[in-house]
Amino acid sequence: MTATLSTELSNTIVDPFAYQDGDRIDAAFTEIRRTAPFARAKPDEYDHIWVASRHADVMEIEKRAGLFANSPRSSTVSPAATQDIVRFLTGGESNLIRSLVAVDGAEHKALRGILFPAVTPMAIKRIEENVRRIARTYVERMLAMAPECDFAEDVAFWYPLRVIMSVLGVPEEDEPYLLKLTQELFGAADPEMNRDKKEASPAEALQMLVQTNADLEAYFAKATERFRANPDDAALNSLIANATIDGEYLTHRQLMGYYIIAATAGHDTTSNTVAGGMWVLAERPDLFARLKAEPESIAAFTEETVRWVTPVKHFMRTATADTEFAGQQVKEGDYIMLPYQSANRDEAVFDDPFAFSLDRKPNRHVAFGYGPHVCLGQHLARLEMRILWEELLPRLSSIELAGTPERTRSNFVCGPKHVPVRFGLA
Ligand code: HEM
Repeated sequence: MTATLSTELSNTIVDPFAYQDGDRIDAAFTEIRRTAPFARAKPDEYDHIWVASRHADVMEIEKRAGLFANSPRSSTVSPAATQDIVRFLTGGESNLIRSLVAVDGAEHKALRGILFPAVTPMAIKRIEENVRRIARTYVERMLAMAPECDFAEDVAFWYPLRVIMSVLGVPEEDEPYLLKLTQELFGAADPEMNRDKKEASPAEALQMLVQTNADLEAYFAKATERFRANPDDAALNSLIANATIDGEYLTHRQLMGYYIIAATAGHDTTSNTVAGGMWVLAERPDLFARLKAEPESIAAFTEETVRWVTPVKHFMRTATADTEFAGQQVKEGDYIMLPYQSANRDEAVFDDPFAFSLDRKPNRHVAFGYGPHVCLGQHLARLEMRILWEELLPRLSSIELAGTPERTRSNFVCGPKHVPVRFGLA
């Protein structure tokens, strides 16, 4: 018999408010893992989706990329009507942006290969000193605001932005504009973040996204011109601009998809994670004291913040053939949700999954995904987050919440957008 989720659970797993709340989405996925871990859902206004709530199933689906592909359906979940409009706007494609997460097979391999050598742990190590210099700038900026700041808005949004833009080769003066466009892109459902700063229906949100995408394309068209005229092998955008596949430059949609995913996924995720890390520290003086006494635990702290926040809430896959999976009959064309937050709270893998712990060894979270699409920027993300804590923690004597933190309202990329803190200087 087909395992099926209730309408209430079906609606909750796509509800941006549930992710903003945090506890509500965790409670829903805990029930799903317990009662129907691989089941069909039918949220109102959405097509049927399978929900793979367990850690093992997320990994298995990601690994079998031939059977569970990123295309042809949208790589993130959206209402059926929105998907129809996207297909109309793109001439038949399901994603507004044709980035690495929207393609499979040979095209994906060729595109991924363009940046892969520049983001290995060895390659990233070469920029460590530059990242540390950037971290110090933002630490000083925070200290100058003592005794209080909104760590999300004042530090966490800006530091990863500076890091990724310097790696991409984007001029510093353009950063506020790109931050605004990224927040519009990932915060389309959040009136504080979206383009028109209003409560928006899915159709209105899509309309705003189309405009934001047009701005991003106009901005990055200039990068192609600039880097083809003056190539710079140290700038990732130059590698993208000058890359060829079978002797041809990337197509317009491939170029734009690449610039946009690197520039946007490259900082919002990391910003969310460090903001979440600060939230935890402000509530846990024991952790703060332990990290100060044991700086060698900062790497474990960083890894646990990635699991804890899981800033990318899901990606989607489409079955390319009929198959049996987890005892269920999956049909060719079926749409499957990989909810990373649920996988990262799976009781079968994590002891006491709702506790933040420095002692998870190994920490087997899947917040960076798994398999051929595993996050291309994971080593950069780890490096920059570890360095921020290494630079910041010795400078603080205390940290506590100075108000109530708040998360962005989104079912895709979501994390704290406000973390008001009061801190003492060491
Ligand atoms: C804490 C920070 C980050 C998290 C949690 C995160 C998470 C993810 C996840 C879940 C995926 C999809 C993986 C899959 O389908 O298996 C992904 C893909 C990707 N990420 Fe990240 N990411 C982070 C930081 C970054 C950074 C700093 C960059 C900068 C370059 C980046 C660039 C990308 C790209 C290009 C992809 C597409 C890879 C592909 O489809 O082959 N990410 N990320």
